Amino acid sequence: MARKILAAGNWKMNKTPSQTKALIAEMREACKSETVDVLLCVPAICIPAAVEAAAGSNIQIGAENMYFEESGAYTGEISPEMIVDAGATYVIMGHSERRDYFGESNEDVNKKVLKALEHNLVPVMCCGESLTQREQGITMDWIRQQVKIGMIGVSAEDAVKVVIAYEPIWAIGTGKTATAEQAEEVCKGIRDLIRELYGDAVAEEIRILYGGSVNPGNAAELFAKEDIDGGLVGGASLKTSFGEIVNYNK
Ligand code: 13P
Repeated sequence: MARKILAAGNWKMNKTPSQTKALIAEMREACKSETVDVLLCVPAICIPAAVEAAAGSNIQIGAENMYFEESGAYTGEISPEMIVDAGATYVIMGHSERRDYFGESNEDVNKKVLKALEHNLVPVMCCGESLTQREQGITMDWIRQQVKIGMIGVSAEDAVKVVIAYEPIWAIGTGKTATAEQAEEVCKGIRDLIRELYGDAVAEEIRILYGGSVNPGNAAELFAKEDIDGGLVGGASLKTSFGEIVNYNK
């Protein structure tokens, strides 16, 4: 399997710029890996501090959100150009917290995916079902709709650059991880959808992550699954022990 595992952290609304500097200084050593890509997505205001603290290490820095316009009267938003200029290389979009608390739609996510690609930022596009949707048996229908709309207008050449993160909402911050089988089932479903949309080559290359209560104790089992190419990690990425997730295979 040619896909490289990506261990990605999402710090959410945690850490100040000075705390960011201190934590990444500690993490540099713990997160060393030749076989796994390492990414920390941090609050916008912490990006410069994070980029500086991670310089010369294998840790890449990403943003947690981005607006889909170039610039202008959008008070409080940050643009792709700002993110790139600050030295970040990835950006999360469509996280369930953005969808639930800030009303982000599939159409918004699609505009963000296209805009990020235009600026050579790697979109980490999130999708995931609620517990009710899982119980109603519509998980895969829901996820297919989120991913399909998110990818509208994305060429095959660009599609391979996108990282898709499957994060069941009921598993986020709850300590209730999806079983490796449940996570694999949906990640495989997403890969099958990508195959329908873009063909085999893109489906084999695109990275699909699992997120939701990933920790040093369960990362190895999850990442060993054929269609799970790493994790998007919340709480457990705020500690130096995130390095144990990066080095899950040691
Ligand atoms: P937790 O790892 O804290 O469950 O958060 C997952 C998540 O939302 C990452 O984006």
